[in-house]
Amino acid sequence: MKASKLLNLSVIICLVLLTGAATGVYGGEYEHEVKAKKISFSWTVAGDTLAVKISAPTKGWVGVGFNPSKKMKDANFILGYVKKGEAKIIDEFGSANTKHSSDKKLGGTPDATLVGGKEEGGVTVIEFTIPLNSADKYDSSVDVNGETVVLLAYGPDRDSFKTKHKYRTALKINLGSGSSEPLKK
Ligand code: HEM
Repeated sequence: MKASKLLNLSVIICLVLLTGAATGVYGGEYEHEVKAKKISFSWTVAGDTLAVKISAPTKGWVGVGFNPSKKMKDANFILGYVKKGEAKIIDEFGSANTKHSSDKKLGGTPDATLVGGKEEGGVTVIEFTIPLNSADKYDSSVDVNGETVVLLAYGPDRDSFKTKHKYRTALKINLGSGSSEPLKK
């Protein structure tokens, strides 16, 4: 085989391997999963990034919040919905016990990256990544070896982030090992 053909072949093999690895982390299999009644939260820790998938029985928003100080306050929220086949996510901050506001509006930055989303048979699935430790003070930092309080919720069947949850729950999760328990108050 000619050297140039061999080079082309190696490039193709590298691309296939890289694509395969990416599918394993984002948009494919996740390392851990927690099901809290009606909502499922899956994640993979990939270096300094957290890849997340949330699914719930709604045609409206699904959301996750990390590390509140009390109720919803100070949590780093990511919410998403799928409208006409197109997924949309927002990065929010728990501005009060039962309120959230966009990081951008508060003077921070949007730090969640959309990977994909779908709505099928009344179930919405959203996939995104976030840095474990972003530079934004409106994102809580996450220690994968410690306990992370994870809030999970979904809204009614409307593509609006302004609606209140139809269902919500709170868990304590070790994101590194995958162990979880309900948050006791
Ligand atoms: C516009 C959106 C939202 C509104 C208006 C809202 C409003 C409220 C209100 C009024 C409460 C207290 C009453 C109750 O327990 O039902 C509450 C509690 C709660 N919310 Fe939200 N919420 C919103 C979004 C979210 C999101 C996105 C999450 C999580 C991903 C979440 C998680 C929770 C949890 C876990 C509680 C219980 C807190 C506790 O009692 O310790 N909320 N919310």
